[in-house]
Amino acid sequence: MIETENLRKVYPMGSFDVKALDGVDLAIEKKEFIGIMGPSGSGKTTLLHMLGILDHPTEGKIRIDGTDIGKLTDYEKTMFRLYKLGYVFQDYALVPELTVIENVSLPAMLRTDRNEKEYKAASYDILQRVGLCDRRGHLPKELSGGQQQRVAIARAIVNRPDILFADEPCANLDTENSRMVLNLFKKINEEMGQTIVMVSHEEWHKEYFDRIIRMRDGKIENGGN
Ligand SMILES: Nc1ncnc2c1ncn2[C@@H]1O[C@H](COP(=O)(O)OP(=O)(O)OP(=O)(O)O)[C@@H](O)[C@H]1O
Ligand SMILES: [Mg+2]
Repeated sequence: MIETENLRKVYPMGSFDVKALDGVDLAIEKKEFIGIMGPSGSGKTTLLHMLGILDHPTEGKIRIDGTDIGKLTDYEKTMFRLYKLGYVFQDYALVPELTVIENVSLPAMLRTDRNEKEYKAASYDILQRVGLCDRRGHLPKELSGGQQQRVAIARAIVNRPDILFADEPCANLDTENSRMVLNLFKKINEEMGQTIVMVSHEEWHKEYFDRIIRMRDGKIENGGN
C-alpha cells in the first residue's frame, strides 16, 4: 500500500516558486491499477517521481508498505527501488548496444541474491510473458516502438516488483500498440498481482484502470475516487 500525507514539491524559479505538488493526500491499495490523469503541467510526473522514490518531496510523507520513505538512507532507497519497484518510461530507455534479453536481465543482474542461471531463467520467462522470446537476440533498433516498450516492461518486472510505475508509456505508440501495452499491464496486474501506477492523458485509457486519480494545479481534483 502507498500512502502520502500533505505531499508538496516546490521548484524555486528565480523570483517565484512553482508548486508542482500542492498538498497531495492519497492511498493506493495493493493490486490496484491506478491511472493518474490531468492536464499538462498538473503535476503527474512529479507525483510519480515522488511515489517511485526517484526524487524527494519538499514537504510531506510517503509510506510504502509501512516504510516511511523519508527516513531511509540513500543506500536503503536504492535497495528499496531495486527489490520493490519497477519503472517504465515514455521513451523505453533501452540500452541500444545490448540485446533484448541483456536489457531485460539488467535489473536482475544487479541483485546479489540470484546467480546467473537464475536471472537468465527469470529474463527468459518474462520475455515469454510479453511475447518476445523469439526476439531475445535482437537489438532494440531492430524492433518496433511497441515491441521496444514491451521489452522495457519485461525489464521493469523481471525482479517481480510489488509496484510498477509507468509515465505515459503509450505516448509514442499508435492505438493498436497502445492497446497491446495496456493489455499487457492488465495481464501483469491480474496474473502477477502487481500494483500499477500509470500516468496517462488519453481519456480512452480510462477503461483499463481500476481507479483514476485526477490532478489539477498540483492537487488531486476528485478526492482520489
Ligand atoms: N525540474 C523542474 N524545475 C522547475 N519546474 C519544474 C520541474 N519539473 C516540473 N516542473 C514544473 O512543475 C509543474 C508540474 O510538472 P509535471 O512535469 O509534473 O507535469 P505533468 O502533469 O507531468 O505534465 P505533462 O502532461 O506535460 O507531462 C509544471 O509547472 C512544470 O513546469
Ligand atoms: Mg509528465
